[in-house]
Amino acid sequence: MKKVKDILNFNKLQSGMTCDITPPTSYGLDIISVKHLTKQFMGIKAIDDLTVGIPQAMTVGLIGGNGSGKTTLVNILTGMLRPEAGEITVRDKKRTHIKSAELRKYRIARTFQDGRLIEQMSVEDNLLLPVTENDLIDSIKEVSISDYKDRLEKVLEMTSLIPHRKKNAEELSYGLRKLLEVGRVLMQDADIYFFDEPFSGLFPEIVEQVCEIICGLQRQGKTIVIIEHNMSLIRRLCDYIIVLNHGKLLAEGKPEDVLQNKAVQESYLGM
Ligand SMILES: Nc1ncnc2c1ncn2[C@@H]1O[C@H](COP(=O)(O)OP(=O)(O)OP(=O)(O)O)[C@@H](O)[C@H]1O
Ligand SMILES: [Mg+2]
Repeated sequence: MKKVKDILNFNKLQSGMTCDITPPTSYGLDIISVKHLTKQFMGIKAIDDLTVGIPQAMTVGLIGGNGSGKTTLVNILTGMLRPEAGEITVRDKKRTHIKSAELRKYRIARTFQDGRLIEQMSVEDNLLLPVTENDLIDSIKEVSISDYKDRLEKVLEMTSLIPHRKKNAEELSYGLRKLLEVGRVLMQDADIYFFDEPFSGLFPEIVEQVCEIICGLQRQGKTIVIIEHNMSLIRRLCDYIIVLNHGKLLAEGKPEDVLQNKAVQESYLGM
């Protein structure tokens, strides 16, 4: 496969703490990919004939200027939007779109750029909701209620939300709300995680905490896609970068190559 070989000996750039993980020594196919994908809003192409793939078990930085189509791509890959054209392949299964009800089946979880907390529900209930709302019968078959409880305790601890577990989401500070959003994703025990700007507006200590959580997922061999504008965080966490520009692929590859790419520097990094 294309890019995958190039990455075998890639060492993460040193910038702050890294996850201290040896780069994977072998990669399978892209776990999820799109071919000639197009999505328009009122005639404007948010995603324009895009063909790109997410390699399995890697952490991919999805970057690009405001309005370049990053969230739209994630919305399509998580069944929130239906594209007008193109093909989506998830684990070798081709389809024209993804249904949000199928996300559990595909073991895909995501955070939302604008947050999707239920304000008048407790922290605990916000965490439990994503694992119980979709398909109750399937979820009960798959995981017993006591497993949910164990997972809940673990996630509350990882997100420092134990002291706040009985509070409603609306009572939390901005940083704790972001941690709760991340916690909702951790509850889902997926294979593919999309984080849409998980660090935006956070104080450095909480940035570190979210980095630690993402590193934990990396250690478990999960596939992770992070949308982020802070390039030092992208360098630090990501094995691979995909750059969008006006809904098209501008560049993809190893961080050290992509961030040196002239077109990327000119169109996005303002260099
Ligand atoms: N629901 C919508 N209705 C109309 N236009 C939309 C909608 N969602 C996205 N767009 C438009 O599609 C384009 C891509 O938006 P998108 O949110 O995917 O960008 P982005 O790369 O995530 O940007 P940002 O970095 O600001 O979050 C933009 O021009 C945006 O205005
Ligand atoms: Mg966005």
